[in-house]
Amino acid sequence: MIKESTRSGGLRRQGALALGILLAGGITGCHATGPDDRGQRLYANICQACHQRDGSGVSGMQPPLAGTPVPIGEKAVLLGWVMYGERPAALPRGVYRNAMPQFYFLKDEDLAAILTYVRSHFGNTASVVTADDVAQVRHRHPGT
Ligand code: HEC
Repeated sequence: MIKESTRSGGLRRQGALALGILLAGGITGCHATGPDDRGQRLYANICQACHQRDGSGVSGMQPPLAGTPVPIGEKAVLLGWVMYGERPAALPRGVYRNAMPQFYFLKDEDLAAILTYVRSHFGNTASVVTADDVAQVRHRHPGT
């Protein structure tokens, strides 16, 4: 008898757990899990204060990320700038008074998601950045 009730209690708990997983899967499945959403969230947290929500920048302070060559250009050059501050030839000197921090400390997957987001929004239509692309650039900077 005791055995029986313990077992049915266990089954009920399993049922509740399965429902919980289903609900969680349903909620996260609709929104907020794709690489694009991840890129958008990270962009909002890390880059947006300077480059603005729509990538339009702030005149004289920080450049737009739309209509400029570096964001949609060669991935290694873009990554070299964002991660290590290696100045691309196409980024003019003395135009923007603010300084950009270096972001080598972010994870490969996070940098890939952010830059993929930047390259496919604000009117940009450039190729995806993968974690492998990031790892290759990181490889040139041992110890980071
Ligand atoms: C504290 C402000 C600040 C933050 C935060 C910031 N940036 Fe910047 N960014 C700048 C400034 C300032 C420049 C121009 C620097 C210069 O000319 O020396 C710049 C330049 C750039 C460029 C080159 C644009 C061009 O015109 O060629 C890219 C790409 C870029 N940032 C991407 C990012 C990304 C991606 C993030 C988030 C991971 C980020 N930035 C976060 C201030 C910032």
